[in-house]
Amino acid sequence: MAITFKTPADIEMMRVAGRLTAEVLDMLAEHVKPGVTTEQLDKLAHDMIVHEQKAIPAPLNYAPNGYKPYPKSICASINHQVCHGIPNDRPLKNGDIVNLDVTVIKDGWHGDSSRMYVVGEGSIAAKRLCQITFDAMWKGIAKVRPGARLGDIGHAIQTFAESQGYSIVREFCGHGIGRKFHEEPQVLHYGRPGTLEELVPGMVFTIEPMVNAGRREIKEMGDGWTIVTKDRSLSAQWEHTVVVTETGYEVLTVSDRTPPPPAFITAPGA
Ligand code: MF3
Ligand code: CO
Ligand code: CO
Repeated sequence: MAITFKTPADIEMMRVAGRLTAEVLDMLAEHVKPGVTTEQLDKLAHDMIVHEQKAIPAPLNYAPNGYKPYPKSICASINHQVCHGIPNDRPLKNGDIVNLDVTVIKDGWHGDSSRMYVVGEGSIAAKRLCQITFDAMWKGIAKVRPGARLGDIGHAIQTFAESQGYSIVREFCGHGIGRKFHEEPQVLHYGRPGTLEELVPGMVFTIEPMVNAGRREIKEMGDGWTIVTKDRSLSAQWEHTVVVTETGYEVLTVSDRTPPPPAFITAPGA
């Protein structure tokens, strides 16, 4: 399967899916507090996507090769969970950090985005990890323009995260996205500048670095989905869906309440 290039009409469809995705993340922000379970957050997201947005939660029953069908509508990954955490009935506690990852299909097109949420008051260390991971995602986004290469994105993310004393998870990556949830290319969050695929207008992919406070090694839990850090150190992740434009990039997973880019992003898409 090769990279698919999106037309302006396709991109308009993906803007809609992206905005709906961001609006679910906005809604969830109001509900993340001590005592709430991730199953409750999953139900809120499911009902909003299905009944209000008239859309489909892509994770539900998603079954890539070798995986059993994913049982919920969002992913919720707490503390040392890296990604693909399955919502359950354990209440969130003060000081937890949680990644909520939402993927919406609207009229056949996907939007995929995730954010970190701090439950109640987080520790300095937890908040710093979330902030640096957000900045790392944006270091990658800032590289997106025609003629740049995927290796430029990975290198920018890796060097920034490692300069802050953190490590980058290698086993999971960003991905092309469109009519399918996971398309080519793979978007690694580490690498060397000037290597890998050249970016061309109309390419749409996610950038979604997973950053560990400790070592980069991970392991899979017995549920077949949840990924955790081997050393049980905290892990954070942020994700946006972006399109390569003639002059740079456009982030598709945006709403009125999307966290704004960091200050080092001076000319978005330029
Ligand atoms: N949303 C994740 C991503 O960013 C994929 C989750 S797959 C699921 O690629 F089945 F766990 F939902
Ligand atoms: Co993704
Ligand atoms: Co995602």
